[in-house]
Amino acid sequence: MNEIPTTGAVIDAQDLVREYRLPRTRLFGAAPLLRALDGVSLRLEAGESVGLVGASGSGKSTLARILAGLDRPTSGTLRRRGRVQMVFQDPYGSLDPRMSVERIVAEGLYGERASRAQKRARVVEALEEVGLAAAHLDRYPHQFSGGQRQRIAIARALVSRPDLVIADEPVSALDLSVQAQVLNLMVDLRRRHRSTYLLVSHDLAVVAHLTERIAVIDQGRIVETGATDEVLNRPRHEVTRRLLEAVLPPDPLRARARLEGADRA
Ligand SMILES: Nc1ncnc2c1ncn2[C@@H]1O[C@H](COP(=O)(O)OP(=O)(O)OP(=O)(O)O)[C@@H](O)[C@H]1O
Ligand SMILES: [Mg+2]
Repeated sequence: MNEIPTTGAVIDAQDLVREYRLPRTRLFGAAPLLRALDGVSLRLEAGESVGLVGASGSGKSTLARILAGLDRPTSGTLRRRGRVQMVFQDPYGSLDPRMSVERIVAEGLYGERASRAQKRARVVEALEEVGLAAAHLDRYPHQFSGGQRQRIAIARALVSRPDLVIADEPVSALDLSVQAQVLNLMVDLRRRHRSTYLLVSHDLAVVAHLTERIAVIDQGRIVETGATDEVLNRPRHEVTRRLLEAVLPPDPLRARARLEGADRA
């Protein structure tokens, strides 16, 4: 796998395959392989916001982790340019409970040369951008709500001004009303920083808020890609239709509002 910047894209993945070796079922039998990614190609241009949607187990997190450099593909090539940061689903598990907010967010500056005071100033700036304040620096994760914890995780991801942000189900662990607030925050931050986003979700409505292009993944393969409006209004693949149906009933008006973002808190 090489990561040499030879294209204008922030990410250029070709034919990624990721196989997991499962536990042997019989003592002398071969360990079975599970092909979680089965030939995925995906390009992200600078400044673009792309949604990756698919049902549970379709391979979204496997792909996100490989694109972020946290895991390696079994085969295929990945070219990536610039710095990448990730936001994870679980704002409880992803923040170390023994670390203060200041230390957690400063982790995002790991490796950067700056004085403690300079780092503190950038941490405060990042906290303010996500709607928190300097008064929160010395507090610990358990003192915050789920939505606030996810804001802290977003501050940690953004404090280094990354070129690419990969968010894997960033709101699915939150209450519905809080989901809308955190999504709106991400929309604002993206406008302000013009970074490239890959937003991973099983929920098409969540992705529609924040992305101009959508890729649909099913059983480790990308089955449909297109402009967000196109995919929502004229889904071509059966899998996409099923994901849309999960968003649509029972109340068509409310469903439209969800897709169009009119229910933003
Ligand atoms: N470390 C692992 N070892 C073995 N199998 C794995 C491992 N991680 C994922 N898998 C399997 O790979 C497939 C894809 O998993 P993945 O976590 O990428 O799906 P996902 O789309 O993120 O699902 P979800 O929406 O539930 O988060 C699943 O069948 C899963 O069980
Ligand atoms: Mg996942």
